[in-house]
Amino acid sequence: MPAKVVVVGSLNMDLVTRASRLPRAGETLIGQSFSTVPGGKGANQAVASARLGAEVAMIGCVGTDAYGAQLRDALQVEGIDCQAVSTVEGSSGVALIVVDDSSQNAIVIVAGSNGELTPASLQVFDSVLQAADVIVCQLEVPMDTVGYTLKRGRELGKTVILNPAPASGPLPAEWYASIDYLIPNESEATALSGVTVDSLDSAKLAATQLIKAGAGKVIITLGAQGALFADGQGFEHLVAPKVKAVDTTAAGDTFVGGFAAALANGKVEAEAIRFGQAAAALSVTRDGAQPSIPTLHDVQGFVPS
Ligand code: RIB
Repeated sequence: MPAKVVVVGSLNMDLVTRASRLPRAGETLIGQSFSTVPGGKGANQAVASARLGAEVAMIGCVGTDAYGAQLRDALQVEGIDCQAVSTVEGSSGVALIVVDDSSQNAIVIVAGSNGELTPASLQVFDSVLQAADVIVCQLEVPMDTVGYTLKRGRELGKTVILNPAPASGPLPAEWYASIDYLIPNESEATALSGVTVDSLDSAKLAATQLIKAGAGKVIITLGAQGALFADGQGFEHLVAPKVKAVDTTAAGDTFVGGFAAALANGKVEAEAIRFGQAAAALSVTRDGAQPSIPTLHDVQGFVPS
């Protein structure tokens, strides 16, 4: 039976425009296309874990608007347990996304119902946390909810993963002792550590600081440069497979969800990172958030060029 990953986090409807380039301040651009796509870092990570071999439950909130039902349905068709996805009065979370011709994006999110996921609402679903092997959090729901989840995950003896995204500054110091795997990208590692992460050496410095702060192990994702793994004993640089990117939205989420699924299913860390990297590489060759996330079958058949 597959191991259980529980994701505590956001569900957003992504309102996606493709344009030749990202607009400058005050500028109006003519876009090439528009689509609404299920996303949100939490939901994307849940979908990635489910498609990549784990049994998954999601804890989160959607609104009473039409997006709410669509976001829930998108998880249910993946076989994700949504008993702890609550519907609260008001708008669902949305993300306004522009993707340019070089596959880069700019994103503005509005929390909507994601802001209603409180520690009290989590207590109601404690049995879902209790059933987890691995618990995964990000930062698109209220900070006290993330802090509560990390602490509760530690109390229950679960493997706790924090993807500190989006991050704008340091994390509360008391969180670190509850984190088994901290998975920031370069800008998040910079915000958390104060070290500007723009090279492998600076990533090693930042990872060392984050482990000193109390994180168990740190994986800094470095985009096309791969990932740096640090466990307090040493470092490992894992090179990313090369692909032609069309849209990088949810690549980080695919990595986190894939890593969590592989770890939950007993893979050793380096193997779980490579698996997450292969999944993320495939995701950037496709448009959108959840539609871009590959299946286990896709990853097993992936031969990097
Ligand atoms: O990480 C990608 C996600 O960030 C998008 O799906 C969007 O909803 C934002 O949360």
